[in-house]
Parts: sequence; structure tokens; C-alpha cells
Amino acid sequence: MTETSFYDAVGGEETFRRLVHRFYEGVAEDPTLRPLYPESDLTGAEDRLRGFLIQYWGGPNTYSQQRGHPRLRMRHMPFVIGKPERDAWLKHMRDAVDSLDLPDELETRLWDYLVYAAHSLVNSPT
Ligand code: HEM
Repeated sequence: MTETSFYDAVGGEETFRRLVHRFYEGVAEDPTLRPLYPESDLTGAEDRLRGFLIQYWGGPNTYSQQRGHPRLRMRHMPFVIGKPERDAWLKHMRDAVDSLDLPDELETRLWDYLVYAAHSLVNSPT
């Protein structure tokens, strides 16, 4: 019996492509978050987040081949992430998750992880 990964269950790369693209459309217009991304275009950031999520959920591990161990907390240290940044991040992610129209059980699993991960990356009391 073969076990289907979460990655396959939600529709593979195409689903993560849509999720992360929609998320960065929100970030691009967000006055709290946009200044944290100094690059003029968000394509590189989009590639990295998409690659990470694909790998995390059981898809190809291209992210680590290119970037090494994720070390997400360390990689977020250069940015001040307090409650406003965390909540803005989650707002755009919620909108992106909703746009996928996944079955409830898969949507809940994805969303619970994203909430947990966003809370774990807060590194500033303000
Ligand atoms: C990178 C902000 C939460 C995964 C970044 C970058 C910023 C940022 C400014 C640098 C952009 C780049 O050049 O890649 C934030 C803020 C968050 C947040 C404000 C709010 C809590 C998360 C969460 C995840 C995540 C919850 C994972 C589920 C990543 C990844 C990278 C990244 C994989 C690229 C790391 C690398 O390979 O260099 N984030 N992030 N972030 N973030 Fe976040």
C-alpha cells in the first residue's frame, strides 16, 4: 500500500504555486510587510517560501538542495517580527488558503501548521 503525501493530496506543485503567489500579491500591497522585503521584486522570496512548503509537506526537496537546512528562526532574525507583522502575514496567508478551496480536513491541517509556524517566528515583543 502506498501512502499519499499531503503534498500530493492537495494537488502537488500547482497548489503551492497558487497559494504562495496569492500570498505575495497581498504582501506586495501591505504597508506593514512590504518594507521587510528589500528586493524590488518578490519573485525570489516567492520561490523560497514555495520551495520550503513543498518540501515540508512531502514534495521534492529542491529547497534544501538550494538553501541547505531551513533554520527558519535564524533566517528570520534580521527582520523585526512582532504581533503586527505576524498577524499581517497570517491575514494574507488566510486569504491565500481560502482561495484554494481545499476539502475541510486538508485546509485545517495546512492552516493549523501555518498559524503554529507564524507564532514560532515572532522575535520581538512589540
Ligand atoms: C523568508 C518575513 C513567517 C518561511 C522571509 C523573509 C522575510 C520574511 C522578510 C525574507 C524574504 C526572502 O528573501 O526570502 C516573515 C514574516 C513572517 C514570516 C514577517 C510572520 C510571522 C514565515 C512562516 C514561514 C516562513 C510562518 C513558514 C511556514 C520563510 C522561508 C523564507 C522566508 C522559507 C526563505 C528562507 C531562506 O531560504 O532564506 N520571511 N516570514 N516565514 N520565510 Fe518568512
